[in-house]
Amino acid sequence: MSNKYIQVEQSLNLRGQASLNGAKNATLPIIASLILTDGVSQLSNVPRSHDVMCMMELLRNLGARADFIDEHTLEVDTSMLDTFCIDPAIMKKMRASILVMGPLLARFGKADVALPGGCSIGARPINYHLEAFASMGTQITMQDDFLYARASSLKASTIIMDYPSVGTTENVMMAAARTRGITRIVNAALEPEVLDLIAVLRAMGANITIRPAATIEIEGVDELKPVEYAIMYDRLEAGALMLAAAITGGDIYLPQAPAHAMEIFILKLQQMGHAIEVGAHGVGVHLKATTSPQAVSLKTGQYPGFPTDLQAPMMAAQCLADGVSVIEETVFENRMLHVHELVKMGANITSEHNRTIIKGVDQLRGAAVMATDIRASCALVLAGFAAQGTTRMTGLHHWMRGYDSLELTLQSLGGRISIVDCQDAEYQALLGQVNGSGVTASQAC
Ligand code: EPU
Repeated sequence: MSNKYIQVEQSLNLRGQASLNGAKNATLPIIASLILTDGVSQLSNVPRSHDVMCMMELLRNLGARADFIDEHTLEVDTSMLDTFCIDPAIMKKMRASILVMGPLLARFGKADVALPGGCSIGARPINYHLEAFASMGTQITMQDDFLYARASSLKASTIIMDYPSVGTTENVMMAAARTRGITRIVNAALEPEVLDLIAVLRAMGANITIRPAATIEIEGVDELKPVEYAIMYDRLEAGALMLAAAITGGDIYLPQAPAHAMEIFILKLQQMGHAIEVGAHGVGVHLKATTSPQAVSLKTGQYPGFPTDLQAPMMAAQCLADGVSVIEETVFENRMLHVHELVKMGANITSEHNRTIIKGVDQLRGAAVMATDIRASCALVLAGFAAQGTTRMTGLHHWMRGYDSLELTLQSLGGRISIVDCQDAEYQALLGQVNGSGVTASQAC
């Protein structure tokens, strides 16, 4: 059993230039999309986060070869991919495994997958995915947490989404890319990571058009070719680093940041008083923190709204801002577990369901805390940099699932952060301090 945790010491004035990794949330569906091809593809800018490793394991389990050929270039050979049945143990490690269902249906007309289950941020049902596949002619039966999906031939359809689900949009696009006829996804998600998947599918030879307002039209083709593609840079990692500079009164330059895909987030930071310059064509950001940040309020929403994945890190910054901030989470029903941990660090937060009121305080203090999901782990690390003393955070696996060596990037900016591997007794004592919280460890997200 791992006895590792993250330790953060107060580190003011983080500054410097940093490189970004590719986006995890673009990489996962893009690796799944390779199931639609037959041959060798190369993806560059692939982050080595644990979720990405899990998606690679999943493809290997289906018979593909998936190996890194250098630090961030992944080579995948799908010519030997020969099964549509996924090992439930792999499937259950990560909710994003559901993204192989569309490509498997397109390739084999069959997909046997385990139900991915809920996680700490919400129940996360897959009903939209299943309804969409049913309307494309798939028969789905469920037995003992296992789904058996069969489509003798998928048929093009118009799918009207009640909510613009990112994963459903991606899954349906992948299935439709090799389904004869025109499939329309109405009220589709148009997150930057969805657009990255569209770019890969087009490079494979798919015929995809985005029509106003938020309709994606896919005209199926018989064959999709292997590709070489560079994954987009991670706007969520960029956001985390910008907030690290903002919360510590620092100064950061991120030449690769996809600022064009971070508009609301950047505007909110500017409203706080931080000086931000965006590079030519919306690429690259330079943030110089204000010494007197003002509180801002926000509500998460689908793109181009404020990203739910930056809600927790942004909340950490509000804890030390001047004034009162109201943050509402509208995407996931249970994505406020970091509130309890931030309060342990001295934050003044009251919350009711998914609405929190944060009154800025002058100082946070280090504490023993627990990360409950990827973005909560980021929020607690950021708060730890600003807090007096030492913060020790359990739930390291959440950090590792979402970020590729972000702790090293933060160190290069002056952040005193390390991964500590300790003896059983020390770890049990830390868990004891943390567990006063009453929050339990979460399942895969
Ligand atoms: N939903 C349903 N039924 C469905 C699908 C979704 O009710 O069949 C609900 C969800 O429970 C949730 C909402 O719709 O309340 C939004 O879910 P969506 O499908 O849009 O999200 P996702 O595809 O499961 C992706 C990212 C998340 C990110 C969300 C929203 C990946 C692998 N995951 O999840 O990323 O928060 O979109 O932008 O792309 C993270 O990286 O930390 C993370 C959670």
